[in-house]
Amino acid sequence: MSRAFHPVKTKFRHARRAPRRIAALREGRLTATTTSPKLLARPIARLQGRVRAPGDKSVSHRVLMLGALALGETTVRGLLEGEDVLSTAGALCALGAEIRHEREGGLWRIRGFGVGGGREPADVLELGNSGTSARLLSGILASHPFTSFMTGDASLRRRPMQRVIDPLSRMGARFAAREGGRMPLAIIGTDEMVPIEYRLPVASAQVKSAILLAGLNTAGRTTVIEPEATRDHTERLLRHFGAEVEVSTTEGGGRRITVVGWPELRGRDIVVPGDPSSAAFAVVAAAIRPGSDITVENVGINPLRAGLYQTLREMGADISFESNREVGGEPVADLRVKGGLLKGVEVPAERAPSMIDEYPILAVAAACAQGSTRMLGLAELRAKESDRLASVAAGLQANGVAVAMGADSLVVHGSGAPPPGGGLVATRLDHRVAMSFLVLGLAAREPVAVDDGSLIDTSFPGFVQLMNRLGARIEAA
Ligand code: S3P
Repeated sequence: MSRAFHPVKTKFRHARRAPRRIAALREGRLTATTTSPKLLARPIARLQGRVRAPGDKSVSHRVLMLGALALGETTVRGLLEGEDVLSTAGALCALGAEIRHEREGGLWRIRGFGVGGGREPADVLELGNSGTSARLLSGILASHPFTSFMTGDASLRRRPMQRVIDPLSRMGARFAAREGGRMPLAIIGTDEMVPIEYRLPVASAQVKSAILLAGLNTAGRTTVIEPEATRDHTERLLRHFGAEVEVSTTEGGGRRITVVGWPELRGRDIVVPGDPSSAAFAVVAAAIRPGSDITVENVGINPLRAGLYQTLREMGADISFESNREVGGEPVADLRVKGGLLKGVEVPAERAPSMIDEYPILAVAAACAQGSTRMLGLAELRAKESDRLASVAAGLQANGVAVAMGADSLVVHGSGAPPPGGGLVATRLDHRVAMSFLVLGLAAREPVAVDDGSLIDTSFPGFVQLMNRLGARIEAA
């Protein structure tokens, strides 16, 4: 039986939690009587077993959005049912999409409103912790002739939105934001957008995607030039849903992407591949515990997402890609990982876009490696769910690991032996910081605690259970 997705009545945990408690948790105002969201990871000898990577977060957001912009029905299998993706689903329902979920089999069905066919949302769109929802939806909302409002948690309200406000304003939309282009944001959209040719000032798949999505309800050809190639899920899916998209490479490894406006997008049947950014936690945990032998099935290995795996191999990790295949138009493999001793390497700045979300977990691998790992070109990490450069450096230091942090670089000094551990890490509303330091606790001499594990559900519901199935010891603290 299928049931309508409803952002308030849904069975999902984030929407079930009392809103005031969520707000308190996210603002750091929890009282001593409230259940602690702290988690602790204890050292273990090795990991063993087979698990399946959860659905890709980036692809899940995009499939829902394109399903909403298509006519007819889209069915989705393997959708990530994380809080970020559910925030996107909630916003699309507010715009008039019909989204249903079948419990058995986990099939999602979307009945779209078509390009330019969304209706004015009756209330502020609440996007939680999700930067991807905020940036990509801005492109859709800006190209509709009504005013909409969006906000999010304390982390999202700190994140820069000027990067989408600039190009979308050039196309004709208007915005009102807080100081520095921060949310809450009012978007005064128009269905008379003008096509632009826009060179991205920062390598950002989110900004690229916002412009391309706005270009759908814009007459003519909208072009984005990216100096460095970033994840291309939007381009792949746009084509799959029937849009005309042209992509060419530019000198220096960048890309020029053009979408032709007013396509008739048609509903599709989609299977979402597993998320390489989520698989990374189990992969690194196994790679740094000698004697481990695990397989993570169904991992997306799109080359524009796979920088971490290249880096781990350069560090000497034993990772093999088995049963290579295609899922939902994306390359996928099962990753077999055996534990051993890693060595420090230099990670070049050019690789940053292909592993932008993986630096926290790479830093944990580096803390367990022999020698120093130098990571360059990390300025964008400061604009993530937290200032990830600072969060990661502080977390490592709290666990006895020597680091040197620059404006856009991080050097982690590993001794080749388990790091001391024993620290309490401030996660700063950042799910990937929480998961990374729990992995450190598995390989350190003393347990590692994180102050708030509740945000893990934004991208990886079931993380603790999945890791513990492999032999980890992660528990409430
Ligand atoms: C994402 C792109 C990246 C990444 C984020 C998801 C996406 O952000 O950090 O977690 O789905 O497009 P930027 O494109 O802003 O670097």
